[in-house]
Amino acid sequence: MDLTALAANASALQTYVGPSTGLIAVVKDNAYGHGLVPSATSLARAGAALLAVSAVSEARVLEKALPQATVLLLNDLDPELVDLVGSEVHLTSTSPQLLPRLHDRAVALGTSVPVHLKIDTGMNRLGFPATELVEVLRFATSHKGLAVVGLCTHLPDYGTVAARAQLEIFSEVVRTARSILGPALRYVHAANSGVLLHHPEAHHTHVRPGIALYGIEPGGGSRLGLRPVMSLCAPIVQVRPVAAGRSIGYRRAFTADHDLLVGVVPIGYGHGFLRSFGPGGTALVGGRLVPVVGDISMDMLCLDLTTLPDPRPGQEAVLFGRSEDPSLRVEALALRSGLIPYEIMTGMSAQLPRCYHGAA
Ligand SMILES: Cc1ncc(COP(=O)(O)O)c(C=O)c1O
Repeated sequence: MDLTALAANASALQTYVGPSTGLIAVVKDNAYGHGLVPSATSLARAGAALLAVSAVSEARVLEKALPQATVLLLNDLDPELVDLVGSEVHLTSTSPQLLPRLHDRAVALGTSVPVHLKIDTGMNRLGFPATELVEVLRFATSHKGLAVVGLCTHLPDYGTVAARAQLEIFSEVVRTARSILGPALRYVHAANSGVLLHHPEAHHTHVRPGIALYGIEPGGGSRLGLRPVMSLCAPIVQVRPVAAGRSIGYRRAFTADHDLLVGVVPIGYGHGFLRSFGPGGTALVGGRLVPVVGDISMDMLCLDLTTLPDPRPGQEAVLFGRSEDPSLRVEALALRSGLIPYEIMTGMSAQLPRCYHGAA
């Protein structure tokens, strides 16, 4: 994991949104597979105002590891979130059921809990309908254990008429909430990476990017020059000759049409490097692109090293990430496999050691 690239991506996003908008860095799901604590540490140092997670366990880990940072739990699906009351973690409330419990717990502890209210503007997944906002705010402002500091929404896409309509609903909701809460409303956020890039009107007080921090620009462009953070690298453990006419691997899916030198790499679909990445796939070895040959196995894959001057065990193969070559970007793997970069990054097995380099 290239932590310099992670910090540079955060800084590129910050520059894009301008100094009056803060960054809420989404580090849920083990920072999209990149490793929660090292990634969150880098992003907090890069100036993220809040670190957003989706699990109570992740909030607890960050609280301990980064006591100076402020954590936001993005949903209220786990009833154990009540145990976070009394910590500094900001909670998100998406429906009325939990608010009385949060209040009671906060009052019992002699404190108040910072809450972000999530408004459903058209994702139809989580959140209060905009029509219930005033009633919810009336409840919250009359219960001293609840401190509504944030208002947020989430969009399923960007650049569409429906997305613009959602953003208009949200702006209206923000106006109402501001008139009731005044300056106590410090965090207003709607924009994930795609919305951030395509709807400047959605920046509000904070933006809430995930995938762009990890180097993927939604829509496939390179406006911000984001750099890949994750690379998958492994050593070649064996080099073997395979004669013309012989097949390689399961299903005999590939047959050599000339004599080959084949390198075996101990990475397979069990580690998250899926079979669908194989056909048309390449790796970087000794500065050259070489093809993946045969089916990817559970724990192994094969590379055709015939064109290399001196292929030998111990050489490193880069399967994606660290390279200028576009065919080694996660976006290229996603295109070949019909997956999205989110699935590929979060799908990298916990068994694979995460190594970090660059300034944290
Ligand atoms: C509520 C919420 N906000 C922000 C994000 C970040 O989205 P993206 O990775 O597309 O920037 C996510 C990710 O799924 C999310 O669930």
